[in-house]
Amino acid sequence: MKHNNIILIGGSGFVGKHLAIELAQRGYNVTVPSRRPHRLSEFKVLSNITVVQANIMDQAELTALCKGHDVVFNLVGILNESKQNSFRKIHIDFIKSIVQSCQTNNIKRLLHVSALGANQASGGSQYLRTKGEGENLLHTFGQNKLEVTSFQPSVIFGMDDSFINRFSGILKLSMGIFPLACPNSRFSPVFIGDAVSAMADTIDDRNSFSKRYPLCGPETLTLKQIVELINKAQQSHCKIVSLPDSIARLQAVILQNLPGKLFTMDNYRSLQTPSTCDSNVPACTTSLTNYIKGLPHLYSRRPTYDEYRKQLLNR
Ligand SMILES: NC(=O)c1ccc[n+]([C@@H]2O[C@H](COP(=O)([O-])OP(=O)(O)OC[C@H]3O[C@@H](n4cnc5c(N)ncnc54)[C@H](OP(=O)(O)O)[C@@H]3O)[C@@H](O)[C@H]2O)c1
Repeated sequence: MKHNNIILIGGSGFVGKHLAIELAQRGYNVTVPSRRPHRLSEFKVLSNITVVQANIMDQAELTALCKGHDVVFNLVGILNESKQNSFRKIHIDFIKSIVQSCQTNNIKRLLHVSALGANQASGGSQYLRTKGEGENLLHTFGQNKLEVTSFQPSVIFGMDDSFINRFSGILKLSMGIFPLACPNSRFSPVFIGDAVSAMADTIDDRNSFSKRYPLCGPETLTLKQIVELINKAQQSHCKIVSLPDSIARLQAVILQNLPGKLFTMDNYRSLQTPSTCDSNVPACTTSLTNYIKGLPHLYSRRPTYDEYRKQLLNR
């Protein structure tokens, strides 16, 4: 079975942009709805990506958008709640809207990005519990004429991510000392190029129907090890100080009430669950350590991901 027309809901975000380009390069026709299409100028060079201005939270609009597609890929997710967007609205209620749109348009294939550690019953945070409930809902609906596959990535890194870049920015602003909350939290970071390649591989693969794939990179690192790697690579010369748990909680309580919500209690709770895999299927092989060691070079020349991946593999 070969699908042709894919709509990426949430395709304007970090993962979605890379996935859109990967899919377009594989010959699929890709539609990306966005609230702010003017921010997606990088898609203009690819004739098989169409950007559409839309409000995906409107059921009628979403259903109309999905018409004419044979695959729906959902990447919509939030790390923090706001007045307009609760975890329940985005991670659970919106799943129901997507399924309804698929059913109305007789679309048979639905793929979804969840998160590692997502678990409806035992997730350590509201983020992880609602991600788990949304994923379960999808697989339940999927038992009725809808072929569902979901992905559970650990933290994803790449040139335009909000993980390495966030710590890189904070380290640059820190004046010699960087107090780090949850230094012992564990991750198996996965490279964006590996993640979107694994996602694209499953679209037409019948063996992936009803499956949930964890996505992890080849290394397991603590948050402190990751921040130290960035500190060294960009020569910030900061002393990384591990915050005791009580101070980390206090930091979360203070920061969640400031604009930008740099760190919240829910983020703190998510960090108590290791973001690591028992098995790594499909294999994502790019190492974060090698990637970070190349950061100064990466930012000065801005090579494409493929160039950079080739360099890593040839080391
Ligand atoms: N990045 C990671 O390290 C990571 C790790 C594990 C799981 N995930 C999951 O992977 C998915 C994609 O992550 P990402 O890093 O690409 O996130 P992102 O950059 O924040 O993108 C999220 C997307 O969701 C859309 N969205 C969110 N709230 C919306 C709303 N109320 N109305 C309309 N659109 C809305 C955003 O649209 P706008 O651009 O218009 O805001 C954007 O397209 C998410 O489900 C996330 O939970 C990511």
